[in-house]
Amino acid sequence: MVESIKNVAIIGAGTMGQGIAQVCALAGYPVMLYDTQPEITKTAIANVRKRLEMAVEKGKLSANLKDEALARIVAVGDFRQLQVDIAIEVVVEKLDVKQKIVAELEKLNAIDCILVSNTSSFPITQIASVMKHKNRFAGLHFFNPAPVMKLVEIIRGAATNDHTIKVLEAFVESLSKISVMATDSPGFIVNRIARLFYAESLKIVEDGVSDFQTVDRLLKETGFKMGPFQLMDLIGVDTNFAVTTSMYNAFHHEPKFRPSRLQQQKVDAGQHGRKSGKGFYEYPQTDQ
Ligand code: NAI
Repeated sequence: MVESIKNVAIIGAGTMGQGIAQVCALAGYPVMLYDTQPEITKTAIANVRKRLEMAVEKGKLSANLKDEALARIVAVGDFRQLQVDIAIEVVVEKLDVKQKIVAELEKLNAIDCILVSNTSSFPITQIASVMKHKNRFAGLHFFNPAPVMKLVEIIRGAATNDHTIKVLEAFVESLSKISVMATDSPGFIVNRIARLFYAESLKIVEDGVSDFQTVDRLLKETGFKMGPFQLMDLIGVDTNFAVTTSMYNAFHHEPKFRPSRLQQQKVDAGQHGRKSGKGFYEYPQTDQ
């Protein structure tokens, strides 16, 4: 078994994968970053560079530390190169895709490598059902934006062993984050609560009670850092919709988790938020 983490692989270089890569690299870990398409990995590293350069400009990071962190992130074009202490699965919120990846990863990696999923909604035990070595698999749920948000939920599957949890707790601490143990249930803690926040906001707009800009403005004025529609654009409208759909199914169609038609329409229109240049709001290219 891995005693402590010395290097990291990240599978999926989208919104969360690139943020987690940045966090790990800044904490001193060599990071291998993989995505199905090499251009996505390239864009991800370019985005990390942009964010670190901005931090240097603002005096929050030295140029040396920025260069060292960037040098630690390596794009990997082949799954088979991922020989590491921990592999973090950060791909689209689809159960079959996640299961395929964890099953492949456990075949390729050293027998004692720890595998985790950043899933927002699927129970860890359900993802792990296709695995042989379920004891070293857990949930490690970062929040968006990963470089800013301090909280990380650690989710113990039915078969996850104590050692894996201990190593993960130390890993999260080494990233200067705060870990919270969450029960293995659909959506864990934060996303289960957050579903109702999004659902009611979408319903208010669908019912014509208010428009989305006003809802955002009002909630910000009452103390929220971002309005629900700004937050959906940041998260990815598609990802947010996938999480709601997954939880609706997992809770046997409980009405409070019913996905919104308005959100479905945005997904169908390819208006996925910041990452696609348009969601509820529009984003100039440089803003993404
Ligand atoms: P995203 O859509 O921005 O990125 C997903 C990436 O996975 C894409 O780059 C895609 O090319 C890649 N991918 C798809 N299939 C793959 C495969 N077979 N092998 C390698 N890469 C593959 O999604 P995002 O938002 O980064 O979400 C990823 C995961 O993180 C999801 O499980 C999501 O629920 C979770 N999450 C998302 C948060 C958010 O705010 N966006 C917050 C916390 C968790």
